[in-house]
Formats: sequence, C-alpha cells, structure tokens
Amino acid sequence: MTTLQEIARQIDAILGDDTREIASAQSTAALEEIRLRVLGKKGRLSLLMRTMKDVPSDERPAAGKVANEAKEAVLRAIEERRAQLREQEIAHAVRTEGVDVTMPGIRPRLGALHPITRVRRRIEDIFLAMGFRIELGPDIEDEHHNFDALNFPPEHPARDMHDTLYLATDLLLRTHTSPVQIHTMKKYAPPLAVIAPGKCYRSDAADATHSPMFHQVEGFMVDTNIRFSDLKGVLGEFVHSMFGYDTPYRLRPSFFPFTEPSAEVDILFRRRRADGQVVEKWLEILGSGMIHPNVLRNCDIDPEKYTGFAFGMGIERIAMLRYGINSMYSFFENDVRFLAQFV
Ligand code: DAH
Repeated sequence: MTTLQEIARQIDAILGDDTREIASAQSTAALEEIRLRVLGKKGRLSLLMRTMKDVPSDERPAAGKVANEAKEAVLRAIEERRAQLREQEIAHAVRTEGVDVTMPGIRPRLGALHPITRVRRRIEDIFLAMGFRIELGPDIEDEHHNFDALNFPPEHPARDMHDTLYLATDLLLRTHTSPVQIHTMKKYAPPLAVIAPGKCYRSDAADATHSPMFHQVEGFMVDTNIRFSDLKGVLGEFVHSMFGYDTPYRLRPSFFPFTEPSAEVDILFRRRRADGQVVEKWLEILGSGMIHPNVLRNCDIDPEKYTGFAFGMGIERIAMLRYGINSMYSFFENDVRFLAQFV
C-alpha cells in the first residue's frame, strides 16, 4: 500500500535531484532530455502518478495535490532555464558567428510593370474613360482577316513573304491589330466603340526602330452618323491625355486600304538639347481614317446606314516618345538597370 507519506518522500527526491539538474542544464537539448525523464510517458513523475490509485482514499486528494504541484514546479523550472539558455545561445552565436542581430534587414526589391504594359494600360484607361471597351483577337490569323476583309488588294506589298511571317498556306502571324475590327464587327452589331491591344509580328530584322514582335492598339467606332470630326475629337482627347494638354497635334492626309479618307496623326514633340535650346519636331504617332465601305460590307454592315472611324498605333512608339527612349532594344533586352527606372 502506497501512502501519502511515501508519495511525498518520492516527490521530494524528484524535486531535489531534477530541479537541481534543470538549473544546471547546459543546453536546451539537455533540458529536453530531463523533461522526458521526469514528465515523459515513462518519466519518474508520470510513473508516480500511476501509483496514486494505491493510496488510501482519504489521503488520495492530498497526494494528488502534492503531485500536481510538483509537476507544475518542474515545468516552471524547465521554462525558466530554457529562457536563460536561449539568451545565452543567441549571445554565443552573435559572438562566434559574427551575427549582428541589431543590423537592419535587407528589404526585398519589389518588381514593377514593364514600360510597355504601363503604356498599354494608360492607353486603355484613356479610351475606357471615353466609353470604349476592349476586345482581343488571335495572334495567328488567316489571310482573309489580316488582308482580304480589310480591303488589301491581292498585289499589296504587305502580303509579301518578306514582310509577313507565314506559318502555313493561309496561316500567318498578324501584321497588325486591324483584323480585330473584322472579328468584332462580324460578332456584334453597331453601335461599337472598341479598342484592341495586342502583339503584332513582321518579318523585320531587329534594329533601333524595328522588332519582329511589337505591340499595337487598334481602335474603332461604328454607328449611324459617325463623322470625321468624331475621329478628330477622340484622337485629340487621346493626344492631350497621353502627352499633355499643351501638346499640339495635326492630321495629315495619308493612305490605308481599309480607310477612306485616311490620316496620320503627328504631335509636336519638344525636346531640350544639351545646350539648353528647345527643338521642336512633328512626329507621327498613329494612322487613322474613316472605315472603308468595303470593310463594313465585308462584315455585313450596311455602309449606307452606318459609318465609322478607325485608328491604329504602336505601343513601343508611344512609350519611346513618352519616356524619351531612343532604342527599341531597350524594351526586349530586360536589362534591370533600364526597367528599374519605371518603378
Ligand atoms: N494597321 C495599320 C498598321 O499596322 C495601322 C492603322 C492605320 C490602323 C490606320 C487603323 C487605321 O485602324 O485606320 O500600319
């Protein structure tokens, strides 16, 4: 028969031996070993707890209390020592490994949007604010959407193998975003006010102003009574939002197979030279015009009832003018020193 006295005697022994050992443990690992030896499944205190059922019932509550208090005392001693040891271990690591925990951390560098993406989004925002919506078309087109439906005659030089990247008979990488006009006008009835950003491809060798892959934003509006003055108003608003409200622009007569009449838009670009003198230059930023009746007809839209305008611009070109970049290479080399300027 185990008695309260016997339990108390054993607990005194445990507390005596083990708390002394705990207080002098030299590492957190040694501490864990002691904890298991006392409080683990087969630990001294755990085994003692199990003999509690042999204690006479009138002494059992008192014996239980003593045992529980002992357990708490051991746990407290372990926690105290563990905190001391951890402090010592950190101090030791700082001394021997040369870690200065007071040194400021290294801030991770944040990435940023590519300048082409930034300018594309800016262009999108300007036209979305004017009520346009976005449509996307495929990079791989057939000749019908890229050329025929846009009123390109069969002998047009753009169709030459030298200018266009053909994939197979009748399949090619689109040379402009204008085919999205065809897809959209075939799918939806007017009124339409749409912009179509995306990648384009041409069989050009890369140099400072050319790249076999580049980006365009196409735009068009079709409704009853759309006039050339609507084109001028919308593109003027675009120029002013993009380049500043004091930027002069002009429309210059031009030719595209899919518009009649056609116009190129120039902006007056001002640049301060190294010697301080300001030089001004008219620079073309986009092509535009009234959608050719044949194009509307090719999309089953009656040109007697509906009219529209269209425009197309190169995103790289807009970005080069906006940021004063003079080489197309900069966009595709992904040199972090260049890209980091656009954070
Ligand atoms: N698609 C023409 C190009 O890539 C650009 C263009 C000019 C688009 C006039 C238009 C437009 O919609 O009306 O050179």
